[in-house]
Amino acid sequence: MLIYRKNFVIIKMNYDRIFDKSSDIMTLVNMNEILKMAMQKGCAIGAFNVVDINSLHAVINSAVRLKSPVIISVAEIHFQYIDVEELAPVIKAAADKAPIPLALHLDHGQSLEAVMKAVQCGFTSIMFDGSQLPLEENIAKTAEIVRYAHAAGISVEGELGHVGGAEGQLEDQSGDSLFTDPSEASLFVKKTRVDALAVAVGSAHGVYKRKPRLDFNRLKKIKDSTRIPLVLHGGSGIPDNDIKKSIECGICKINVYTELSQNAVGSVRKKLAEYSGISYPELMRTARRAMENVVAEKIEIFGSKNFV
Ligand code: 13P
Repeated sequence: MLIYRKNFVIIKMNYDRIFDKSSDIMTLVNMNEILKMAMQKGCAIGAFNVVDINSLHAVINSAVRLKSPVIISVAEIHFQYIDVEELAPVIKAAADKAPIPLALHLDHGQSLEAVMKAVQCGFTSIMFDGSQLPLEENIAKTAEIVRYAHAAGISVEGELGHVGGAEGQLEDQSGDSLFTDPSEASLFVKKTRVDALAVAVGSAHGVYKRKPRLDFNRLKKIKDSTRIPLVLHGGSGIPDNDIKKSIECGICKINVYTELSQNAVGSVRKKLAEYSGISYPELMRTARRAMENVVAEKIEIFGSKNFV
């Protein structure tokens, strides 16, 4: 645990230096600000995974057009494709220009290194995913991260139960999921003081081979026992009505990635079949437009349009 303490003291000093809190330089907001509003309004905010500048622009363009707050997620699993230290300043610059609240969030941080890197790069929110650890260890590690992240003004999402599958995977792996227990959820939230909780209620990351069946009763019980914003992972491929019902039952943040990736790839494939001599920037634009459409559709379904 000491290792967390030592690193976070350094991070806190860096953070205060990077963001002069007395001025309005910091346009990225803490995720709590966005989720509190969502809770009051009875809608959910989309957390879209970006893997490069093109996908970042797709998310921001649609959110700005529809006047919706948005959460820009960068997953630890995608660190292999992007240099977060280079991407984070670009995201901050884009947030400076966007007239909407934006949070920059680390998705599925599993290693201390990833959490530290995200905080040092100016992320305003982190997810620590200890869902595959034994309960006591998940609580202890999450609580330690919360203490030091909160001291630096950063919100924390924890996960209890386990949402199966992996982003972009073509196999339905919902069988890997371990559903969240409502009374454990209450204990977890009390002991860790997380700001938001990712729950396992029947969704999975990646492509569903059969229609997902969400356990709404369990979701309501978790909401009643925790009273904090709940997060639905594996937001791609869930029918619109189930999404709406999950929001009624307490979901405030919905994570989406696979549909962005699939639609970008599908549109590029189609364009190349039409005209194989297409230029690289035109191909990028094709992919961006396809992702913009997904983001816009989700914002409509999540009910966060015209929010700002
Ligand atoms: P999908 O890839 O299934 O949309 O899930 C995204 C997600 O939950 C990211 O954490």
